[in-house]
Parts: sequence; structure tokens; C-alpha cells
Amino acid sequence: MKTLSFVSTMLVLVALVFVQFLLATQSRAERIKEFDRSGKLIVVEKTAAELQPAYNIKNKSPEKVFPVPRPPFSEGIFPCSQCHGYMKPNPQRRILKDYHEDIVLHHAEGQRWCTDCHNLLNRDKLRLVSGELIDFSESYRLCGQCHGDKFRDWKVGVHGKRTGNWNGDKQYLLCVHCHNPHDPKFKPLKPMPPPVRPDAASH
Ligand code: HEC
Ligand code: HEC
Ligand code: HEC
Ligand code: HEC
Repeated sequence: MKTLSFVSTMLVLVALVFVQFLLATQSRAERIKEFDRSGKLIVVEKTAAELQPAYNIKNKSPEKVFPVPRPPFSEGIFPCSQCHGYMKPNPQRRILKDYHEDIVLHHAEGQRWCTDCHNLLNRDKLRLVSGELIDFSESYRLCGQCHGDKFRDWKVGVHGKRTGNWNGDKQYLLCVHCHNPHDPKFKPLKPMPPPVRPDAASH
């Protein structure tokens, strides 16, 4: 009697393990409809590993922080909160008259305004399209949102300037060390006057 119940318990256990195994293999593979190279709709079997997306916005690794010198602020303007901490933020697009008159936006200005890059509430931070706030020492990420090709080149030292050991720590210049963020296009240089002819200069 005792051995019989032992055997039946074992049988139930084995059966359970078997069912478990079947379920597991089923949940691992899935039939997926997708388009093949010629654009035909096909049904393919995919394993769980294949179903796992290789890239996902949520598991994106944080952007690397690059060592840079101090951002090229004008004397005494930073922190911005020394004034803006006490001012009511004004999101209105307008010609600035009280301060910053020297800033004239000439950088896809038809489509945007100061607060696309500067955070309205905390003026000491820059703002990405995603809403993430970043420090001025990371402004390359702001530029990289729209100039992805230049940002890639900059990271590997093809665009811009990178100094340091070839296999040691490297320092990068920020995009804004060379480009004015408000008016980034380089102006064509005014040609120098022609040299004075020596015979004209001698009398
Ligand atoms: C394309 C993004 C962008 C836009 C648009 C933009 N800024 Fe800036 N601004 C920057 C970045 C980046 C810096 C940081 C430069 C640095 O690191 O020194 C900066 C710097 C500044 C500074 C400090 C300047 C200095 O002399 O040191 C002021 C003030 C400022 N912005 C105001 C404005 C105002 C006002 C507007 C709208 C008329 C505006 N910004 C529009 C990106 C932008
Ligand atoms: C000495 C005081 C002072 C400092 C420092 C200052 N600002 Fe301003 N800022 C002003 C004033 C005043 C205005 C309003 C100008 C107007 O309405 O004509 C203004 C307006 C702005 C605006 C337009 C939006 C708004 O809220 O009016 C932006 C953007 C801005 N400042 C960014 C900056 C940034 C970025 C810095 C630091 C890098 C900075 N400011 C530092 C005084 C200052
Ligand atoms: C929201 C998108 C956007 C962001 C952010 C942005 N730019 Fe631009 N940028 C543009 C567009 C669009 C143009 C071309 C139109 C124009 O020049 O007004 C441009 C033009 C330029 C040019 C001139 C290219 C030429 O033809 O000579 C430079 C340089 C530049 N940007 C640098 C920067 C830097 C540096 C930053 C960061 C402070 C930055 N951009 C941030 C969209 C962006
Ligand atoms: C050491 C100075 C320097 C730095 C740093 C720098 N640039 Fe430039 N950039 C230049 C010069 C010089 C040119 C013009 C010559 C050329 O086209 O290569 C230029 C050209 C550009 C242009 C226009 C190119 C075109 O196709 O007409 C863009 C956009 C630009 N830079 C974006 C950036 C961005 C974004 C960064 C930061 C990630 C950056 N730059 C960093 C010096 C610099």
C-alpha cells in the first residue's frame, strides 16, 4: 500500500514536470507575422530571445559624460538664477529690451524660441526635447539632438577639438566654444584691402 502511494505520487510529479516543460517551450517560442525582404507577409516562429527587443527607449543606457573646460559664459552672467530666481518667467516670444539685447536668435528662429533650449523655471539648466534638464557643461547633448552627425564625429574626435593622450583621458571643447548657440553660422570673413604698392607708398 505504502509503495503504491509512493509510485502514484511520483507519477503525478513526473506528469506535472512534463506539463511544465511543454508550457515553458510554448511560451518560449511564438508565431510572428512579419514582412520578408520582398515585402510579402509571412509567419515565422521566434524564440523568446529573438522576441526580446535589442533596443528599447526604457533600457537606454545613460549618455556618457565628456570632460570639458568651463562653458564660455560672459563674465558674471552665470548663475542665471541670480536674476531669474527673482523674476517671473516670461514664455512670450518677443524682442528682448531690458537685458540680453545682444542676443538675436538666428538659428532656425522661425521654428523656435529661447525656452526650447533654456528651461523656463530653472534658468541654470538647459532643456532637452524629452524634457530632461542638463547642465551647461553637457550642452553637446542639446546640440546633438538635431546635429546627430556632428555629435557622432565630435565624440570620436573628427569634428571639433579633442586633446589628451591617445589612450588616456581626453578633454573636449564644447560645441559652443566654437559656435555661438544663438547665431551659429560662421560669418564670411571680410576680405583684407589689397596691399599698398611700394612705389605708391614711397612718395
Ligand atoms: C539652440 C538652443 C538655444 C536657444 C534657442 C537659445 N539659447 Fe541661449 N544658450 C544656449 C546654450 C547652449 C548656451 C550656453 C553657452 C555657454 O555654455 O557658454 C546659451 C547661453 C545663453 C546665455 C549666456 C550668454 C553669455 O553671454 O554667456 C544667455 C543670457 C542666453 N543663452 C539667453 C538666451 C535667450 C534670451 C534666448 C532667446 C532669445 C536664447 N538664449 C536662445 C542655447 C540656446
Ligand atoms: C543681470 C540679470 C540677468 C541675468 C544674470 C540673466 N538674465 Fe535672463 N533676463 C533678464 C531680464 C531683465 C530679462 C527680461 C528681458 C525682457 O523682457 O526684455 C531676461 C530674459 C531672459 C529670457 C527670456 C524669457 C524670460 O523669462 O523673460 C531668457 C531665456 C533668459 N533671460 C535666459 C538667461 C540665461 C540662460 C541666463 C544665464 C546664462 C540669464 N538669462 C541671466 C535678466 C538676467
Ligand atoms: C531643434 C534643433 C536644433 C538644435 C537643438 C540645435 N540646432 Fe543648430 N541648426 C538647426 C537647424 C534647423 C539649422 C539650419 C537653419 C539655420 O541655420 O537657421 C541649424 C544650423 C546650425 C549651424 C550652421 C550650419 C551651417 O549651415 O553653417 C551650426 C554650426 C549649428 N546649427 C550648431 C548648433 C549648436 C552648436 C547647437 C547647440 C548649442 C545647435 N546647433 C542646436 C537645428 C538645431
Ligand atoms: C574646435 C571648434 C569646433 C567645435 C568644438 C565644434 N565645431 Fe562645428 N564646426 C567648426 C568649424 C571650423 C566648422 C566649419 C568647417 C566645417 O564644416 O568643418 C564647423 C561646422 C559645423 C556645422 C556646419 C557643417 C556643415 O555641414 O555646413 C555644424 C552643424 C556644426 N559644426 C555643429 C557642431 C556641433 C553640434 C558640435 C558639438 C557636438 C560642434 N560643431 C563642435 C568648429 C567646431
